Amino acid sequence: MSLKSTISGFLKKCLPLRYYKLIANGCIVVPAYYRNIIREEEACMNLAAENSLEKDLLLLRKYAHIIDKGLHRKDVTPGHSKSIYNALCETASRLKDSKYAGDPTYLWALDKINAYERLQESSGSFTPLEATAPTPSVSYEELFSLIRQRRSNRDFKQLNVEDSTIEQLIDTANWASSSCNKQPIEIFYTTNPDKAAQCLRCCKGGTGFSRFVPAFVVFTANIRGYVYPGEMSLPYVDTSLGAQNFFLAATTLGLSGTILSWAQKNRQEEEDLRRLLDIPSDCKIIFCAAIGYANTQFCTPARKR
Ligand SMILES: Cc1cc2nc3c(=O)[nH]c(=O)nc-3n(C[C@H](O)[C@H](O)[C@H](O)COP(=O)(O)O)c2cc1C
Repeated sequence: MSLKSTISGFLKKCLPLRYYKLIANGCIVVPAYYRNIIREEEACMNLAAENSLEKDLLLLRKYAHIIDKGLHRKDVTPGHSKSIYNALCETASRLKDSKYAGDPTYLWALDKINAYERLQESSGSFTPLEATAPTPSVSYEELFSLIRQRRSNRDFKQLNVEDSTIEQLIDTANWASSSCNKQPIEIFYTTNPDKAAQCLRCCKGGTGFSRFVPAFVVFTANIRGYVYPGEMSLPYVDTSLGAQNFFLAATTLGLSGTILSWAQKNRQEEEDLRRLLDIPSDCKIIFCAAIGYANTQFCTPARKR
């Protein structure tokens, strides 16, 4: 062991993790206005470092995805990605008797383990994975028309939104692409207009809305699967892609969703919103949305080319 790693190991044992990290990373001085951002990101990284079933489930999808990619290659041969396969098997075994054992993604991951093992045992008879190409049921024109029809309206009819409708929309979110197939989106909501009004008050951009807001939705990403600092922006990417599915689907049901930024929230607003919708600390809030049936249809803002 080198002197550097001996000292590093010693400091890690003696110091609180926070101070150890500071020293280990060169005590870089950054402007104070980054303090909150760093504090929040550090809290996420610390949660992602902990072992949990939720982390296992997210990483299971990641490992299975990496194996799955290889199994689709026409030139697939045995002997590759052994370490990922081992990580996949270990993760799957931790989830085996958990509440996630019936999750479709867990079962899908087991299929990948089986296919990988078939490849190792009898590569001659292994056929690379392949599905049948879909026939899209909507045309480009229809889809583009829907994309243009989606609007951020802020004045809603006095009409409640059913929980089942929001659930239907939630189903669309994790069908978006996600980094390493982690499918991290978790959506919290209320269809109680009084509670929706309280939630809206937590958002600085919640201005110009009708008094009646039938539903309020919070888009979050479970951050336990983002284990490297370089992945810091991925929860935003993953969640935004899923949210667009949600809003397009809402448009097909005659509903309108208006995103509310969470970028300028303060500590109190964060605490209040988490309490109102029971949002756990491992779910990073990306943005919120007011949902309802438009009373006033907003004019379409022109688009640049
Ligand atoms: C990340 C993000 C944050 C937004 N924040 C707010 C907000 O706080 N308040 C609001 O009224 N609209 C907000 N919007 C909605 C935009 O104003 C709206 O999407 C934009 O004006 C284009 O209009 P359209 O959605 O009807 O096409 C936000 C949109 C995005 C993507």
